[in-house]
Amino acid sequence: MISLGIGDPDTPTPDRVVDALAAGARDPATHRYPSHRGRPELRDAVSRFYERRFGVGLDPATEIVPALGAKECIFNLNLAFLDPGSAALAADPGYPVYTAGPLLAGAEVVPMPLLPDRGFAPDLDALSEADRGRARLMYLNYPNNPTGAVVPDGLFDEVVAFAREHDVLVVHDASYTETTFDGYVAPSFLETPGAKDVGVEVFSLSKGFNMTGWRTAAIVGNADAVEAYWRLKTNIDSGMFEAVQLAAAAALERGDTELAAMRSLYERRRDLVCDALRAIGVDVTPPRGTIYIWAPVPEGHTSASYCELVLEESAVVLSPGGAYGAAGEGFFRISLTISDDRLAEAVERLRASLGG
Ligand SMILES: Cc1ncc(COP(=O)(O)O)c(C=O)c1O
Repeated sequence: MISLGIGDPDTPTPDRVVDALAAGARDPATHRYPSHRGRPELRDAVSRFYERRFGVGLDPATEIVPALGAKECIFNLNLAFLDPGSAALAADPGYPVYTAGPLLAGAEVVPMPLLPDRGFAPDLDALSEADRGRARLMYLNYPNNPTGAVVPDGLFDEVVAFAREHDVLVVHDASYTETTFDGYVAPSFLETPGAKDVGVEVFSLSKGFNMTGWRTAAIVGNADAVEAYWRLKTNIDSGMFEAVQLAAAAALERGDTELAAMRSLYERRRDLVCDALRAIGVDVTPPRGTIYIWAPVPEGHTSASYCELVLEESAVVLSPGGAYGAAGEGFFRISLTISDDRLAEAVERLRASLGG
């Protein structure tokens, strides 16, 4: 069995980050309860990274708080901002916490379908008056899991105007800004004029820096929203181990060579998979970002029936698109986070069993 299901980088965290953790762990000052606001070293590193990478200025004192992964942060934002009767507007297909989180907070979800003919942008004009009225949060994510889409031109400006008009907090999930291909450089939502007035960004080190196991992310942007998250969190957990914070700071301070190597690794795997899918008649568009391939299932199949067929015929696990929301039905997702030889083997099996 070869699983192309989960997106979990197979290459290790850079040595220098592991070394920073080891050095931090040897300092007894890190052994006590961490501060919820985070070590200044980490907040400063995030601020410098945003300035260097996106040209976005962030005040480390009020506009940055560390999070135990984007997942934790996104989930807790639901508790901070939603009440029964309110709703979150959620990209569909999307990362499952955008829909499970609001429900667990006792609120509702209004799916915003992301369809190929709109470049996987939501149609904000299609939202009803009632849904606009009860919406408090909007979840967006570009480069996008699961579709691999990058942000369509003008969408972030449109979102800022919408959020202003309807008093919605935009939560942009920036988990894949560093995993991009063909020279594409992904923007931060906060580069958009006015974005900081209406939104926050959740930046994760998981995918770009091979740090999924470390649980390292930060919420950045609108100071009131960052403060609300921080306040809630002081009641929920006791922050991130400070040695991990120092290691995350080290990851952000340098890393251009590592990031370039990571991009070319996934770009090569992307090409391998897209070529193979095309050879067996799948109409796939190579993504410019993320670590996933999103492709339509053949005629006559549902997402689930196709993934089941592939599993039975070739012992390869694909993710059925319907698992990411109703608008994902009719697609499947392949993750590029397994070794080159296993990926080549998976692709060969697909060719052999489904090629004819
Ligand atoms: C869009 C998206 N957001 C968040 C996450 C989780 O990130 P983290 O490891 O920082 O919790 C994932 C993981 O797959 C993801 O795809």
